[in-house]
Amino acid sequence: MSLLSGKKILLGVSGGIAAYKSPLIVRLFKSHGAEVRVVMTPSAKDFVTPLTLSTLSDYPVYSTFTEQLYENPIWNDHVAIGKWADLFLIAPATSNTLSSMVHSKCNNLLIATYLSCTCPVYIAPAMDLDMYAHPANQKNIKELDRVGNKVLPVGEGFLASGLNGKGRMLEPEEIIDYIIKNIKAGLPLKGKKVLITAGPTYEPIDPVRYIGNYSSGKMGFALAEEALQLGADVILISGPCALEASADIKRYSVISADEMYTLTMEHFSTVDIAIAAAAVADFKPRLVGKQKIKKEGGIQSIELDNTQDILAQMGKLKQKQFLVGFALETEDEKNNAIKKIKSKNLDAIVLNSLNDSGAGFSLDSNKVTYIQKNETIIPFELKSKSLVAKDIFSQILIQNA
Ligand code: CTP
Repeated sequence: MSLLSGKKILLGVSGGIAAYKSPLIVRLFKSHGAEVRVVMTPSAKDFVTPLTLSTLSDYPVYSTFTEQLYENPIWNDHVAIGKWADLFLIAPATSNTLSSMVHSKCNNLLIATYLSCTCPVYIAPAMDLDMYAHPANQKNIKELDRVGNKVLPVGEGFLASGLNGKGRMLEPEEIIDYIIKNIKAGLPLKGKKVLITAGPTYEPIDPVRYIGNYSSGKMGFALAEEALQLGADVILISGPCALEASADIKRYSVISADEMYTLTMEHFSTVDIAIAAAAVADFKPRLVGKQKIKKEGGIQSIELDNTQDILAQMGKLKQKQFLVGFALETEDEKNNAIKKIKSKNLDAIVLNSLNDSGAGFSLDSNKVTYIQKNETIIPFELKSKSLVAKDIFSQILIQNA
């Protein structure tokens, strides 16, 4: 999943020749899973049509404070447009637009929206080389940067004037890369490594049969995606399940508890946070049939051995790592979960109760209680597993603050 996925992005287009590249910016944002709306200055319409941008963005494009709908003039509410956005990119930003932004000269809808919005603002300047180098523009760029905007560099090369030099707007791909890198650099888990175990394990009886459980892996995968969104390098060690993980997640697929144990131990010493969300089988058959066991003759019983407790072993080896376990309980839930914090040397545990309706293995929702090592108990409502993952990481970040 891209870091831009689900983000509400407002693109502001001002009137320079580079505006012809703005449809591509819209497409690229959308291909990253973002929702895009466009606001443009009246003069930008000389370079690219609102119809092109509204078709690509799936939203009406605004360029004036009011417009006529049948008999009725309507107001294009710059405040609502600005507040809608999670991120505002102004590309291209002309000399005139930069100057209006600095001096809050609210002479068009784009500037009014800029002055009203409270989200991060990225600015991609575009102008001819001498204009870009002019002290007046350099001063404006510095000032926009000083007040918290993120001003992108410009490209160098062939310019619409026929001159060659510095001033071109960055290419759409470069703009999107810049924004993603910039978002990543500010994320709370940037530079941290997170290990997550997920899904069930299957313990073989013979080549065609196994002991398993109903875990779908959804909770562990949601945690891995959330860790990625927070900027971490993510290692996901998952038992058999049909889920896909984002390409940026380092995913290892295993079958049995023994395999999950070996891989987890290989990586544990390198990580900063480990979360054991896997429903690891507690028992495995002592003897595994080399051939399929025939029903003729039957089997009366299967002798079982305990599997290795992966989480408990991480607890033993733990040094700098922040270690979180899960507890699936059916009775005396909180006390049992707190016992596991102590017995497995955890920093926190996420308690799932099978008594809560809507919570459980293969569902998309979950209801959890986060319990810190000091026994502070934080209950959460029933919600989707991806929102539960956000709650869990927000608690981890609070505990690590
Ligand atoms: N766990 C593990 N390895 C195992 C068993 C469990 O890593 N062999 C981890 C799970 O991923 C979970 C936590 O231990 O984070 C607790 O699992 P749970 O099944 O609730 O508890 P158990 O330790 O198995 O104890 P019990 O079955 O007695 O409740």
